Amino acid sequence: KVKLKFDVFRHVRTFSTADKPTVVEESTKTHPSTNDKRQCFDDMVEFRKKQARSSVVVQVGNPLKSAALVNQVCSRHGNVSNLFHYTHKDKELLLLEFDSELSAVNLLASCSHNNNVKVIPAASPFLWLKAMPSESSASMSARFPLIMNEDNLANDNLEELLSNAKSISEQMIILEDQTRLSEIGHRLRWITCVQIERMLSGLFPSLQVLPFGSFVNGCGRNGCDLDMAVSLDGHCGTEPLEVKSPLIFQAKAAINNPRLQTQRHIEVFADILQNFTTGCTQVQRILQARVPIVKFYHEFTGVDCDLSMGSLTGVFMSELLYLYDKIDWRFRPLVTAVRHWGAWARLTDMVPGPRITNFTLTLMVVFFLQRRSPAILPTLSEMIKLARPQVDTRQTNDVDCTFLRDPAMFQERGKLNQESLEDLFVEFLRFIESFDFNERSVSIITGTALRKFDSKPLYVQNPLERELNVGRNVNLKELTRVVMEARNALYILETQEDQCPANWGLLALPRAERVRRSNPKSSHHNHVPQIDMKDLFSTNTDDEIDDFIEAKVS
Ligand code: CTP
Ligand code: MG
Repeated sequence: KVKLKFDVFRHVRTFSTADKPTVVEESTKTHPSTNDKRQCFDDMVEFRKKQARSSVVVQVGNPLKSAALVNQVCSRHGNVSNLFHYTHKDKELLLLEFDSELSAVNLLASCSHNNNVKVIPAASPFLWLKAMPSESSASMSARFPLIMNEDNLANDNLEELLSNAKSISEQMIILEDQTRLSEIGHRLRWITCVQIERMLSGLFPSLQVLPFGSFVNGCGRNGCDLDMAVSLDGHCGTEPLEVKSPLIFQAKAAINNPRLQTQRHIEVFADILQNFTTGCTQVQRILQARVPIVKFYHEFTGVDCDLSMGSLTGVFMSELLYLYDKIDWRFRPLVTAVRHWGAWARLTDMVPGPRITNFTLTLMVVFFLQRRSPAILPTLSEMIKLARPQVDTRQTNDVDCTFLRDPAMFQERGKLNQESLEDLFVEFLRFIESFDFNERSVSIITGTALRKFDSKPLYVQNPLERELNVGRNVNLKELTRVVMEARNALYILETQEDQCPANWGLLALPRAERVRRSNPKSSHHNHVPQIDMKDLFSTNTDDEIDDFIEAKVS
């Protein structure tokens, strides 16, 4: 059973010889482990959390020998339905899933601490197999799964697969398929969420930890970070049930400043993570940020984590992107190609700074798809108008995040547009190249390019916190690079017949970049008609433009 699952993930789709596979069966586009009917974000979260609560991770010495014993020990508490093996640094780890949460709870209740004097005796789903009698090895080894690391699932022969594809559309599907966050990657992030939730709910019993960001919105790639938000009351933006009792809790008076109060909470969470939570290392408190967070690294899953509190807009933003992914299957491969293009051309960066972020690029893709004719994605205004009372009502920190949470309403409409992925990717680059960033803003609320609300080079409106500009960090140099690189990519894609056959389509983009970096004079973009930057950004100073040209030349 386990082997079969593994094969599903390694499976590379084959395509018909049709040049542009504009119609691909919806069933082949969803994550293999995700039930197609689970289109609702809350259902997906509940399903994954339940799965994580039914799972444990066991560190072993020799996985081939230990798998049978671990399975035997765990099976005393219930049926083990899934077993995955992964490695992280020098650790060998097994992730086991039970049929029921109760089995995992019983297993954890039966575990002990290695040495109460030397360790802080805190319970977690991360376990260690202490001893292994030699006789118990073989029985399971035949069923034992291959290693399912995020890294080794990210394919070694991706270039070959892309090179053998029949069209750029097919390349985009392969790229999405091969780089999408693996099943083990999903499970390790969810188990981390559940671990943190259990630790913090010792102090705050109603607390819930809600993941957000690319990991849950469908755009997650192997190695992506884990963004989490804490809901202290556990209502997660919905209306609390009416309390009938006249008795209410005696409470300690709150600090009369919400921001300060949030900072205090984050400090407490950071202390718990640092001092008592298994696997959480390199804990950093970033209290002065607009949204205070605690950052840490989980040494049993290898995931970088951010935990925030105070606002759930990030969660609802992820829900919106999750819905867009469900509305039209082309959204995800297009976002993937755009994010890869951003990485290949070094437009995006792992660390915060003046470069455009993946999230900003994703909103630009939404905007672009809303403006196709016929539209592929609905505007947020349309989704707000159709919101069902109560079912769709969400509010966080005075921000109204109510919108229709049923993708089915728009799925048929998107199909009226038959544009292929290749056409969409090329048209997206053209949109970036020709958009009037100097005067206009990008807003997915109405899908219209309104006048800019501030003087920053790039204005991409945050659709939920409408007064915020998601692109405010991007400086003129970086925005100019985005436009130039779009022009460059268009040039490369449009002149690719001249290139070597193995180097075609999407593959030409990173390779051209490599050539350019090793030898700037031989670059493709020497042939690309240059942009008159003064026309594009008339409000910016000559000095800024000169700086940019100097940096580009050097
Ligand atoms: N977010 C936001 N406003 C911003 C930045 C981020 O609302 N200015 C929210 C978005 O919901 C975003 C999430 O925070 O998806 C996480 O941000 P980040 O980790 O930077 O982006 P991801 O979409 O997760 O992309 P990546 O794969 O690069 O982590
Ligand atoms: Mg993220």
